[in-house]
Amino acid sequence: MSQFLALLAQKASLVDEALDAFLPPADRHPAIIHEALRYSVFAGGKRLRPALTLAAAEVAGCPERKVLPAACAIELIHTYSLIHDDLPAMDNDDWRRGKPTSHRVFGEAVAILAGDALFALAFELLTRGGRDAGFEAGAILQVTGEVAAACGTSGLIGGQVLDVVGANRGIDAAELEFIHRAKTGALFRAAVRAGAILGGAHPDTLRRLTVFGEYFGLAFQIADDLLDVTGDTATLGKPAGSDARNHKHTYVSLFGEREARRRAQEACAEALAALAEFGPEAHFLRHAVEFVATRDF
Ligand code: IPE
Ligand code: IPE
Ligand code: MG
Ligand code: MG
Ligand code: MG
Repeated sequence: MSQFLALLAQKASLVDEALDAFLPPADRHPAIIHEALRYSVFAGGKRLRPALTLAAAEVAGCPERKVLPAACAIELIHTYSLIHDDLPAMDNDDWRRGKPTSHRVFGEAVAILAGDALFALAFELLTRGGRDAGFEAGAILQVTGEVAAACGTSGLIGGQVLDVVGANRGIDAAELEFIHRAKTGALFRAAVRAGAILGGAHPDTLRRLTVFGEYFGLAFQIADDLLDVTGDTATLGKPAGSDARNHKHTYVSLFGEREARRRAQEACAEALAALAEFGPEAHFLRHAVEFVATRDF
């Protein structure tokens, strides 16, 4: 685990440096929005999704630095989703990444607009950033389309809307799995595929990495459900117990802690199995699975 955290820190520092270069300076007019963007982006996320984009490119034989614009785009989309997820109309949470949430600091209107701005900037990075990195137009177009789809009504938004409206009614295991695959799995899948596609992965490699990304994302959200119950606010950097307070359906509320843990392990095993044909080039991805299963933040 500590070995993985060291590798993750290396990738995170590349991502942070690139994000700093891509984001407008905090004092650029209109300063309030640029300040809000930087406040949330540099609040201290794990950078797991962009790290997976870099790692997938490496599996495909491409230098990780080349896919930094796409990796940063994925992290900006993730950060936008967190700002909106925390709004009073959604999960109504006051803490994120160890700091007061964007709407608490800047007000709801600016927080909504900050999320929108990060979303727009992500697509600028995918397109213009991809071109500047020297990728073919066809690969850029494919990745941009896939990332957009992962954000839409059959991906992140589709999952979030069911997460919110589903809290007021009953739900079964299949629908809960759909929500988790959509609200969280879709962006992990897109993060991995973006790195692999831009990195020029062979179709077989891309297929295996896609399965990896899907199960990894599912395992990640089940673990997040568990941490909402078993974790503490200081370590998580966000309020523990948020799901129960909001009457959310989670793997823990539906199946109990023990069965949720078993299902997370099952998804991790599928993610690892998808990497079975790879050699040392998939070292980071294998350790990422171990991290998801055992993390406490
Ligand atoms: C939190 O994601 C939101 C979920 C999809 C569960 P992370 O746990 O990756 O959040 P950061 O980026 O490290 O803050
Ligand atoms: C959020 O799920 C998934 C997103 C797409 C943002 P949660 O609502 O469980 O995420 P946290 O626990 O607030 O980070
Ligand atoms: Mg939520
Ligand atoms: Mg939430
Ligand atoms: Mg959660």
